[in-house]
Amino acid sequence: MIRARIISTGSYVPPKVLTNAELEKMVDTSNEWIVSRSGIRERRIVERDVATSDLAVQAALKALEMAGMSAEELDFIITGTNSPDMFFPCTSCFIQSKIGAKKAAGFDILAGCTSFIHTLSMADKFIKEDPKRKVMVLGAEIMSKITDWKDRGTCVLFGDGAGAVILTGEEGERGILSTHLHSDGSLWELLYMPGGGSANPPSHETIEKNLHCIKMAGNQLFKVAVRALAEVSQEALDFNGLKSEDIDYMIPHQANTRILEAAAKLINFPTERMYLNIERFGNTSSATIPIAIDEMNRSGKLKPGNLILLCSFGTGVTWGGGVIRW
Ligand code: UT7
Repeated sequence: MIRARIISTGSYVPPKVLTNAELEKMVDTSNEWIVSRSGIRERRIVERDVATSDLAVQAALKALEMAGMSAEELDFIITGTNSPDMFFPCTSCFIQSKIGAKKAAGFDILAGCTSFIHTLSMADKFIKEDPKRKVMVLGAEIMSKITDWKDRGTCVLFGDGAGAVILTGEEGERGILSTHLHSDGSLWELLYMPGGGSANPPSHETIEKNLHCIKMAGNQLFKVAVRALAEVSQEALDFNGLKSEDIDYMIPHQANTRILEAAAKLINFPTERMYLNIERFGNTSSATIPIAIDEMNRSGKLKPGNLILLCSFGTGVTWGGGVIRW
């Protein structure tokens, strides 16, 4: 059996740290509220002149270095992002040009925080078609530039960062076992950015009304997220004939510690085996899972044969999951 296996990882977060104490000076909030409601203590924020592809390139170069591979060997670059450099061209094309991946076909996926699971799913399909292919998939976001810094309900949650993984085909049991993708567009108003697109093209009015920033019904989204994450995790387990106890690590989208604990409880998954870094980076949307995978990989936590459960949830609403044998 040929499977798409992750052969290397890389991640990058900008050096500038924004702490909860600093946010206390910007909006009516408190460190105690942010930590108890979300699990976040600090997040990383880019400087004004940095674009999403700049973060992605740093993550990409680290993944290439780990693989001992040149950028010219890549066949595809697929980036999950909700905060692209520009509407078009796609951020993957900027990454392709900056790293010199001349042969690679680049395109983006915009499916909320779930986008990285979509990129993995695409890589899986491309590699099953031709196992020699080398596919780089990324999650990269600059959420700080689409955040309303006066809205305490959202500005305390998000951060900037990027993660990349390279996959290729390999005979055997290691690699992506399955991915599972879902959406329910009727719930779009729970999390959206109304301004700048064809529905509300840029105008003085859209700027004045702050429509180019994230709008979120956090509490309603919370409940939907818990159920969706639990359901897709169970779906991924059932599809592979696995039980919670077979899984070595769950690497979930880092949206909120309480959401993840509640979802884990629904499928009887012990939180000790769930990898969390939300405390340090906040919610970096599509980038949370690849950053977490890279941290675990580089710290030696992931051993060959480990079973990893992925799950994510985001705007759309979209949700997805999958199982990887490391
Ligand atoms: O990654 C994509 C998907 N994202 C998510 O799934 C995020 C989902 N939602 C959440 O993570 C949580 O809903 C939040 C962390 C955003 C909020 O937690 P919550 O327990 O759902 O709080 P809430 O929205 O019900 O608000 C409780 C109170 C409200 O005050 P009142 O009405 O009870 O007086 C809010 O106005 O907390 C208030 N509040 C704040 N207080 C201090 C909201 N934001 C803040 C804040 N600091 N930053």
